[in-house]
Amino acid sequence: MDDALRFNLLGSSPQFAHVLAQIRRVARFDITVLVSGETGTGKELAAHAVHYLGDRAGGPFIPINCGALSESLVESELFGHERGAFTDARQAAPGLISEADGGTLFLDEIDALSSKAQASLLRFLQDGTYRRVGGTQMRQADVRLIAASNADLDALVESRRFRRDLLYRLKVLPLHMPPLRERGEDVVELAQTFLDRLNQRYIDDMPGKRFHPRTIAALAHHDWPGNVRELEHFVQREFLMCEDRVIHAMPDHHASDSRSHAAEPRFNGAFREAKARAIAEFERRYVASAMKRAHGNISEAARMAGQDRSAFSKLVRKYREKAEPAVRREKHSVDP
Ligand SMILES: Nc1ncnc2c1ncn2[C@@H]1O[C@H](COP(=O)(O)OP(=O)(O)OP(=O)(O)O)[C@@H](O)[C@H]1O
Ligand SMILES: [Mg+2]
Repeated sequence: MDDALRFNLLGSSPQFAHVLAQIRRVARFDITVLVSGETGTGKELAAHAVHYLGDRAGGPFIPINCGALSESLVESELFGHERGAFTDARQAAPGLISEADGGTLFLDEIDALSSKAQASLLRFLQDGTYRRVGGTQMRQADVRLIAASNADLDALVESRRFRRDLLYRLKVLPLHMPPLRERGEDVVELAQTFLDRLNQRYIDDMPGKRFHPRTIAALAHHDWPGNVRELEHFVQREFLMCEDRVIHAMPDHHASDSRSHAAEPRFNGAFREAKARAIAEFERRYVASAMKRAHGNISEAARMAGQDRSAFSKLVRKYREKAEPAVRREKHSVDP
């Protein structure tokens, strides 16, 4: 796993080992790669690895985030522009494709490219030629392209927001970064490594910290919609904020980085009732999701929740009675 460590790609689950093997394989070919995966799954790290493991490692790695630039700016950033091509263009600029000559251009959030930029990029992929904005001369560059997106590009093709021919060109070597929730034991391994690093880094300023076993169990069962980035932030926050040497926090207690269903509480009625309603709603959802994950097995659900079985089964009964009609309909998903 030396390569993986060199690129800071942590994880030893079979799912991730498969991804690492694919990265090594893909790196050997000098062909366009499309990296897909949810936010925070490590698409940019993977793109780095593909570049530095391949023959172009000695050349430049130039990243550009297409989503962060306006439509017109993306084109001049990528292809460069001639002097006077637009109001601010006092001087000609070569553009990132030219800068990446002999190396790799990493196009992040490629789904954000305008249709005009998509057309120019397609031509560049087909024959390695391009034109600066406002220019007529055809230029050439020897660039490997790695593109990334967390959007469903096939759906964008269907809704005609992304060119089908461009997608086919990009998809020759697809690389999918799996979500953290599908990487089994990696969650705990990553959390532990992030914590170890913080302990090392702050060794002179802070007492060493460790996770409570219940926190570890909760980390393993949280679904991490913001993936590795969210996990890393969780560990950092807890390491810095927790006064105790043992971290007890549960990931559910933090509004997750990329999901906002923990909506701001509305002001309706007395605090005490509002709080009771919120707790009841939380318990109901928590119990339902724990039971679903445990395939209806109360002991297993209790273990995952870090509760003893009798307390947890009381909760299950409480919410099952309330939800009786619904439970009958959905017998398989909720009933033990
Ligand atoms: N396997 C991994 N091991 C260690 N750290 C990781 C891993 N995957 C991702 N990270 C860390 O998580 C963060 C997000 O990674 P990265 O920027 O590569 O994700 P991304 O898929 O490009 O996300 P986005 O779609 O939001 O741009 C970074 O801090 C990165 O170092
Ligand atoms: Mg990224």
